[in-house]
Amino acid sequence: MATEAEFPQKLQCLFQPKRFKILYGGRGAGRSWGVARALLLIGAERPIRVLCAREFQNSITDSVHKLLADQINNLGLGDFYEIQASRIVGRNGTSFAFEGIKNNTTRIKSYEGIDYCWVEEAVKVSRASWGILIPTIRKDGSEIWMTFNPELETDYTYQRFVVDSTDSERKFVIKMTWRDNPFFPPELLSEMEADKRRDPDYYLNVWEGHTIQMLEGVVYAKEMRRAQEENRIIAVPYDRTVPVNTYWDLGRADNTAIWFAQRVAMQWRILAYYEASGEDIGHFIKYLQNRSYIYGHAFLPHDARARRLGTKLTIEEQLRESGMSPVVVPKQSLLDGINAARIFFPNCYFDQEKCADGLNALRHYRYRIVDGAFSNEPIHDQFSDGADAFRYMALASHHRSVDKRGVLDRLIAAKEQARAAKENNGSGRNGRGGNLGWLG
Ligand SMILES: Nc1ncnc2c1ncn2[C@@H]1O[C@H](COP(=O)(O)OP(=O)(O)OP(=O)(O)O)[C@@H](O)[C@H]1O
Ligand SMILES: [Mg+2]
Repeated sequence: MATEAEFPQKLQCLFQPKRFKILYGGRGAGRSWGVARALLLIGAERPIRVLCAREFQNSITDSVHKLLADQINNLGLGDFYEIQASRIVGRNGTSFAFEGIKNNTTRIKSYEGIDYCWVEEAVKVSRASWGILIPTIRKDGSEIWMTFNPELETDYTYQRFVVDSTDSERKFVIKMTWRDNPFFPPELLSEMEADKRRDPDYYLNVWEGHTIQMLEGVVYAKEMRRAQEENRIIAVPYDRTVPVNTYWDLGRADNTAIWFAQRVAMQWRILAYYEASGEDIGHFIKYLQNRSYIYGHAFLPHDARARRLGTKLTIEEQLRESGMSPVVVPKQSLLDGINAARIFFPNCYFDQEKCADGLNALRHYRYRIVDGAFSNEPIHDQFSDGADAFRYMALASHHRSVDKRGVLDRLIAAKEQARAAKENNGSGRNGRGGNLGWLG
C-alpha cells in the first residue's frame, strides 16, 4: 500500500522491533499523531491486532478512536479501513480495539493475539493495571507502546519505564517536545509562549515535559515529602510474630481499597495496598486469604453495617462469616480524620513496591478548587478511596485490639526510646524508628 506520511525524526523507532516504546515529554510533540499513523500504516501493510488501552475509559469518546478515524482520512485510507462504533477494522483483517484497564480486568485478560498495544496517557496507569496488561500482551514479537506527558516524579509509570534503567535493552525511551515536531502548529506556538510568560513552572511541566515535585493542593503534600526525606518509603519486612490488620474503604462505584499494616513497637509497617472495583466482597476475602499473612482485625468504615440491596448479610457480617475479625471504625468528620492521619503519618513506614498504588493515591489526593482557591473539601476521584482507607487506619490506630501486646509493648517501647534518646544525646529526632534495628 503506497501511502505517503511524514514523521518526526525521533519516531523512526516505531518501525524497529522493541518490546517497549516509551514516548513521553511535553505537549504538541507529535507523539499521538505519529503513533496513530504508524499503526494505521503497519496495519494496512499486514494484518495486525491492536489494543488501544488507557487506565479509565468510560466511553469510546475517551479513547483514541476519533484520533485514528481522523488520521485514516488524513492518510487517504478511507477505503481500506472501516470505522465502526467501537472498533476499526481493515480489509486485510487488521483490527483496533479500545479498552479501559481499570474496572475491566476480565475483558483485558481475554484479549489474545495482540501485536501492538498502545497505552495513551500511560502515566495514569497504576502498578496493578500494568500487572494485568503486560502479561496479556504475550504474542511472539508483540510490542507495548506508551505515550504520555509526565506528572509527578514519583508516578509509578514514570519510575518504572523512564527512571529505572534495568531492562534497558528491551525498551526505547524517547523524550520529545514541540522542538522535535516539524509540524508544530502556529496556534500551539502562541499558546505555549503565553504559558511561558504567565507561569514558568507550568510551562516547564506542560511544554518541556519536566516532572513536578508536587501537585498543588495535595492534602498530604508535607507528610508525603517527609516520608520520602526520612526514608520511610522503602522495603518493609513482614514480622511473622505480629498480626496484620487490614483497613478498608468501601468506596464509590464499588471501588474497594485496602491497606495491610502491622504495628511493631512504635512503628507502623504498612506492608501492602490493594484496590479493585466491580468485584464483590468474596473477591477481597479470597485476596486476603491468598496472602501468607496472619491476620488481626479488619477495620471497616461505618457503612460496612449498611444492608445493601439484594444481599442478606452486611459487609461486616460477611467478613465475620468468613472467619475474619471485623471492627467498625466509629464515624468521625472528614476533617478530624485528616488531622488524625497527619499525626499518624510520621510513624508510618511504607513498602515502596507493594504500596505503590496506595502511595500514588496519597500523593494525588487533593482539595477541590472553589472560586480559584483551594477549599478544605477533598476531591472525590480515583485517588480518594485509598486516602479514605488510610484515614480509617489513622483513626483506628488507637484501637485497643491493635495493641496486642498492650502494656508490655508500651513498656518496651518507652525503654527503647529512653535508650535511644540517651544515645542521641538529645540531637536529631527522638529515636523513633532508626534505633529499632530493621531499618539499619
Ligand atoms: N506526522 C505529522 N504530520 C503532520 N502534522 C503533525 C504530525 N504530527 C503532529 N502534527 C501536528 O502537531 C500537533 C501536535 O501533535 P500531537 O497531538 O501528536 O502531539 P502530542 O505529542 O501527542 O502532544 P499532547 O501532549 O498534546 O498529547 C498535531 O495537532 C498536528 O497539528
Ligand atoms: Mg497526545
